[in-house]
Amino acid sequence: MEGFPTGRCCWNGNSCNQMRKIALVTGGSRGIGKAIVDVLSEEFDVYYTYRSTSSEIAKFESKYIHPLKADSHDYEAIQRVVAEILQHGTISILINNAGITKDKTCRNMTKEEWDDVISINLNAAFYYTQACLRPMIDGGWGRIVNISSIIGLSGGFGQSNYAAAKAGLIGFSKSLALELATKNITVNAIAPGYIQTDMTKQIPEGIMTSLLEKIPMHRFGTVTEVASLVRYLVSKDSSYITGQVFNVSGGL
Ligand SMILES: NC(=O)c1ccc[n+]([C@@H]2O[C@H](COP(=O)([O-])OP(=O)(O)OC[C@H]3O[C@@H](n4cnc5c(N)ncnc54)[C@H](OP(=O)(O)O)[C@@H]3O)[C@@H](O)[C@H]2O)c1
Repeated sequence: MEGFPTGRCCWNGNSCNQMRKIALVTGGSRGIGKAIVDVLSEEFDVYYTYRSTSSEIAKFESKYIHPLKADSHDYEAIQRVVAEILQHGTISILINNAGITKDKTCRNMTKEEWDDVISINLNAAFYYTQACLRPMIDGGWGRIVNISSIIGLSGGFGQSNYAAAKAGLIGFSKSLALELATKNITVNAIAPGYIQTDMTKQIPEGIMTSLLEKIPMHRFGTVTEVASLVRYLVSKDSSYITGQVFNVSGGL
């Protein structure tokens, strides 16, 4: 039977009988990441990263939530924040969520637009995972969830950079799942469809209307509908599920 080792007590030293494991969520200040932070903080001690100071940060009011500024472009910053968290204990749960789009047809895309999207959506997931991995293996239990996209499965017009990054994240997840299958660490990917966040606010109204017609449920998803699946995938109930991709897409 799968072991479920105890974590440590509250990070701030308050007296507390509950032992909490540590979770790290990248890009937790807004959108899907924020919903994941909220849900996981009910059970875990959650650290999350962000890039720019945003008013949303102030809206977290839990002693179990700890924001850390780190640009996912910055390899050294990633090493620094992971080392800082590891001083408090092993990171048992890693959610690679931070992501951006810079849509343009391949013909018109600049090298910078390609590199930025690959860097944040794919390279940073590798950097965070590698930095967390050894202690996670030594700890004997772990959960890694990578937030991909249905665009990584289907492709998207004007999204060759984003589709390549998100497809890459799926290949990364499946390979990592094989490497960690005997280590009590599961690795899965989630492929959200169209979810109401700042990212999808950028979609022009005409395209939005045709998308809603195409989605079998005729609506965008909510951040909570993605976070609920994350909650399950990091729980001990999902112990025999690894290397999988789960669409949260209203039937797309
Ligand atoms: N929304 C959708 O329909 C949808 C669909 C499929 C997949 N996804 C994926 O789901 C994930 C979350 O998307 P979302 O819609 O919630 O996006 P969002 O609302 O735009 O939030 C993006 C998050 O990523 C962080 N981030 C962006 N660039 C960063 C950087 N360079 N360094 C560190 N953090 C950075 C942001 O931090 P700041 O607040 O500091 O900017 C923010 O917390 C992404 O991977 C996205 O590709 C979204």
